[in-house]
Amino acid sequence: MGDSNSKIPPSSVFNPVSTPAREIDTVAFFVISITAAIFLIVAGLLAYSIFRFRARPGDDSREPPQVYGSNPIEFAWTTVPVIVVLVLILTTARTIYTVQVPTRPADALSVGVIAHQWWWEFRYRDLGIVTANELHVPLSDPGNPTPTFLDLESADVAHSFWVPRLAGKTDVIPNRKNSMWIDPQVAGTYLGQCGEYCGTEHAMMLLRVIVEPRADFDRWVTAQKQPPARDASVGHGRQVFESTACVNCHTIRGTAGGGRFGPDLTHLMTRQTIGAGVAMNTPDHLRVWVTDPNLIKPGALMPAMNLGDKDLDDLVAYLATLR
Ligand code: CUA
Repeated sequence: MGDSNSKIPPSSVFNPVSTPAREIDTVAFFVISITAAIFLIVAGLLAYSIFRFRARPGDDSREPPQVYGSNPIEFAWTTVPVIVVLVLILTTARTIYTVQVPTRPADALSVGVIAHQWWWEFRYRDLGIVTANELHVPLSDPGNPTPTFLDLESADVAHSFWVPRLAGKTDVIPNRKNSMWIDPQVAGTYLGQCGEYCGTEHAMMLLRVIVEPRADFDRWVTAQKQPPARDASVGHGRQVFESTACVNCHTIRGTAGGGRFGPDLTHLMTRQTIGAGVAMNTPDHLRVWVTDPNLIKPGALMPAMNLGDKDLDDLVAYLATLR
């Protein structure tokens, strides 16, 4: 169901566009280079010795000279590994220091990330915006960085927030707040996923980070702050929403729906996907989803709504107006 996904480059740790991801990429290559060099030297010497000193016909059975307590050899094989390990420790420590959450500037954007089975809630507390599965952040100019800070909490079990091109994984643990930051320097959409097994739909707990130039981001913020458009032609669909179990789990601002167990639907149609990235957000997919989410996402905690055809059509028509 990923029609428009083809334009989004695959998520890869080898193609970082944000400082934490880049730092991790650099240190990983550095460590791999050093350890690869050690491997080649050791394996090369081993292969050479096996070949050069292999048993030959007519060898006498004397032992070769045994060397004990040679100070130069002992010194060499103690100091060289110590130096190698020390270099690795210092480089890693420097990376940890850079990646760790720095003191955030007073005007920095902070977003609360709440992991649920199996979707992501994003709460822009300073802006009064709540959305799901698609995180919008401003583009950061390396000359004048505008990082976004994420405060991660879980509503149920342990999850892990991972957008490979932006930063390393950060665990999302119940009763604990972990923080991380990103400063994406290339506009675009970045795919991510839950990085820790969290139940049936762990593999389908996807997310997107949409990085846009400041002006576009500000426009998005302004639009998200508005109440949803109120379209009289879908009044019956709204009644269906307000008079069924929908309202227990979903919020749509300006309606009777104030539930928080499921995603906030106030601006549902501004999102590219539904079901935490499992399907593109089209009225057809919405119809299937409302009929029975398990048809698209087996194990999803939203129940099948068992609506009649007319109610279902009207409800979907109403949802399709939530821009
Ligand atoms: Cu959430 Cu795996």
